[in-house]
Amino acid sequence: MGARGRPTPQRVVDERPRFRDPERSAREDVNPYIAQHRLEAPYVLPADEAWTWRDRWPERFGRTAPLCLEIGPGNGDFLTELAVRNPDVDHVGVEIRYKRVVLTANRLRKVGATNAVVCRYHAAYLDDLFAPGTLSTIWVNHPDPWPKGRHDKNRLIARWFLEDVVRLLRPGGVFRLKSDFRPNVDRAIEVADGLPLAVTGRAEDVTTGPAPWADDIETNYQKKFRIRGLPVHAVEMVRG
Ligand SMILES: C[S@@+](CC[C@H](N)C(=O)[O-])C[C@H]1O[C@@H](n2cnc3c(N)ncnc32)[C@H](O)[C@@H]1O
Repeated sequence: MGARGRPTPQRVVDERPRFRDPERSAREDVNPYIAQHRLEAPYVLPADEAWTWRDRWPERFGRTAPLCLEIGPGNGDFLTELAVRNPDVDHVGVEIRYKRVVLTANRLRKVGATNAVVCRYHAAYLDDLFAPGTLSTIWVNHPDPWPKGRHDKNRLIARWFLEDVVRLLRPGGVFRLKSDFRPNVDRAIEVADGLPLAVTGRAEDVTTGPAPWADDIETNYQKKFRIRGLPVHAVEMVRG
């Protein structure tokens, strides 16, 4: 047994997750999804289970296949459709909010997905979940914008995150970002400077024109912006 009574997973013997999950102090009485998300197997991995799969995703999915990550799947529409359209790829969603984890699980259950799972986890601690060079694609769709300067530290699109992307993608792996907040796309390109990430495509508005990739799947937020006539920006980068 490892520290604090947690079984020590094989092959990550001395590693501990860096993410200190606040679940134990969270209010189950006010948020029913805290208990609910634990009942959503096999579509959900709660934080204390998710990290134990770090070096064993092929075992989790029962096969060796490319592994695709979506950060912040929200209601799960995009992740589910991605999994349906790409049966030869395994998919992991990483979502911090319990309700959205449950919503994503509901979508995955509806289509009987066997190649997708959603982890309740924090995107700043992806090293807990994935070994270097093991991801084929990383999607970030409409990350929370945190437009005010004083919230800068909360933004996902930052140098440390792009460094994580570089470390986790296999050579030739792809990073794709869509955002209604244009500075997010500009910033991704800016902070990737000097990293082995080449910009391979950019679009000013994927709601009225093509995305930098084929067959774009509309996310829940993307749909809201399209209906309001607002642009959704996109960039694609490939890891060298
Ligand atoms: C604006 S919503 C976009 C949802 C979805 N991607 C879409 O396009 O419809 C941002 C999502 O990211 C999730 N999120 C925010 N911070 C996160 C973090 N640190 N780790 C994982 N997910 C996070 C939110 O809970 C939310 O589901």
